[in-house]
Amino acid sequence: MSADEVRELADIAALERLAADLGEVLGAGDVVLLEGPIGVGKTRLVSAFVAALGSTDQVTSPTYTLMHVYETPRLPVLHLDAYRLSGVQEYLDLGAGDFAHDSITMVEWGDRVADAYPEHLGLVLEFGQSGDTSRRCTIRSRGRSWQRPGILNP
Ligand SMILES: Nc1ncnc2c1ncn2[C@@H]1O[C@H](COP(=O)(O)OP(=O)(O)OP(=O)(O)O)[C@@H](O)[C@H]1O
Ligand SMILES: [Mg+2]
Repeated sequence: MSADEVRELADIAALERLAADLGEVLGAGDVVLLEGPIGVGKTRLVSAFVAALGSTDQVTSPTYTLMHVYETPRLPVLHLDAYRLSGVQEYLDLGAGDFAHDSITMVEWGDRVADAYPEHLGLVLEFGQSGDTSRRCTIRSRGRSWQRPGILNP
């Protein structure tokens, strides 16, 4: 398993560069679990990722709808939010696993459903020290490795 990678993100442009790098690395069946406090940028990162895959779809928070599907020229992106779920079983009942093999799955508050995904890429977002737009992203591989430059293998 690779060591964690830490990215300091000064602004949204840096977040978009991270999203573009993820777009180079991730493929069908991959799962990204997003962690971090309210308002840190989990939805914004999914939005940047969907855009990086070439979609013009508007990405919105699935906090109440629980699951959105975005079509992109490369692969569909499943966007889930585990914030309101009671646990893994309710999450599995949603049926997200049925589409996951052919899609990239991104789950906000994903630490709540980590038990359902022994293999995943974990992205932990934190507010930065300097200014309103500064964030830190810690990238963790769990259960497998993604061997591409820039993500976990600089
Ligand atoms: N560097 C940055 N990265 C991400 N978002 C940023 C950054 N700088 C400013 N923002 C702003 O922070 C806000 C992040 O909101 P967002 O809805 O993505 O958070 P969230 O983590 O999904 O929150 P929630 O827990 O409510 O789902 C957006 O308004 C975004 O424009
Ligand atoms: Mg959100």
